[in-house]
Amino acid sequence: MSDSRILPPLSRRALLTGAAGAATLATLPRFATPAIAQAAPLRVGLMLPYTGTYAKLGQFIDDGFRLRVEQLGGKLGGRDVTFVQVDDESKPETATDNMNRLVGRDKVDVVIGTVHSGVAMAMVKVARDSGTMLIIPNAGANDATGPACAPNIFRTSFSNWQTTFPMGKVMADAGIKNVATITWKYTAGAEMIGAFSENFTKNGGKIVEDLTLPFPQVEFQALITRIAQLKPDAVFSFFAGGGAVKFVKDYAAAGLGKSIPLYGAGFLTDGTIEAQGEAANGLKTTLHYADNLDNPANVAFLKAFKAKTQKDGDIYAVQGFDAASLLEIGLGAVKGDAGARDAMIKAMAAAKIDSPRGPLSFNKAHNPIQNIYLREVRNGRNELVSIAQSAVDDPARGCRMT
Ligand code: PHB
Repeated sequence: MSDSRILPPLSRRALLTGAAGAATLATLPRFATPAIAQAAPLRVGLMLPYTGTYAKLGQFIDDGFRLRVEQLGGKLGGRDVTFVQVDDESKPETATDNMNRLVGRDKVDVVIGTVHSGVAMAMVKVARDSGTMLIIPNAGANDATGPACAPNIFRTSFSNWQTTFPMGKVMADAGIKNVATITWKYTAGAEMIGAFSENFTKNGGKIVEDLTLPFPQVEFQALITRIAQLKPDAVFSFFAGGGAVKFVKDYAAAGLGKSIPLYGAGFLTDGTIEAQGEAANGLKTTLHYADNLDNPANVAFLKAFKAKTQKDGDIYAVQGFDAASLLEIGLGAVKGDAGARDAMIKAMAAAKIDSPRGPLSFNKAHNPIQNIYLREVRNGRNELVSIAQSAVDDPARGCRMT
């Protein structure tokens, strides 16, 4: 493995520091013949947030991806790997330029990215136009595996619909009647709240108010005051990263935790739990992962991740790890020849991965089919309560591949 440096998004990045050597490559046209193409390192673009409210999420995806590549001897499909990293800052406004540079100037073979739904949709557009292979290791924008689905686009994470739809029934079944929702006003927030509300109201619940603030703002006070006035039976929320840490702490500090229980998409407490401390205790969320999933793949993953990073793995690390596993399945099937696109896509679409999250396969739109777990924060961990819904498949509304 080798690395280009991370530089600010729009500045020059080092071109190639691969094992095959810049001198050799400089004299050869890329992919002159399959044999030459396969001798050169595979160029992997990592377009992730390394700064901002989602910085930790991006870093864990990166760490998870690299861990898997290390386990594969530093290779994918038998080829050495060169990384080109871009900090997308979770800013949709620079996303198209960043992705165009990776594809056009840096000539990556595949892009892994990103966390933020708005940034991801800009990447999806470039991937569709250029035919570049894209694996989304987090962003849940429904459209990426809906109307904008494409053969060369895969997701190893979730659709926004998928993670929160099951919670609508869980909360209704718990006898909760009136819920206020709160989130950032952008694609992910709107779609996660939308899917929860769809299932909650279908099961007899009522949404009393939808509260929002612009991404990535964290001035929650006025909205928490509004929740206290509304006195719903419970609150359902989506926040993640640094914003989720502050929201959970502010909610607890306002003293609402006991009278108006807080629920959320699992991103509220995944990767954030340590920083939230006591404030997170007892929070119930749904996600395609729980820390104590007792399957051999998860046990081995958590151990290896800790050994590499000295940190506890979370869903973001798992999604990065699985992105590398998926790519290995695709490239392995074509002996590293990333140009053998149809065969590579066919192998990836048929992949059955023994993921730390449990069984992982893909629907025709290339979105994961996976269990969604109900978890509760206990002893500083997102512990499994039950399977909220097993083998959840996104409806992939609008995707022509289904
Ligand atoms: C998204 O923007 O799709 C998104 C961001 C952070 C998460 C989950 C989804 O934790």
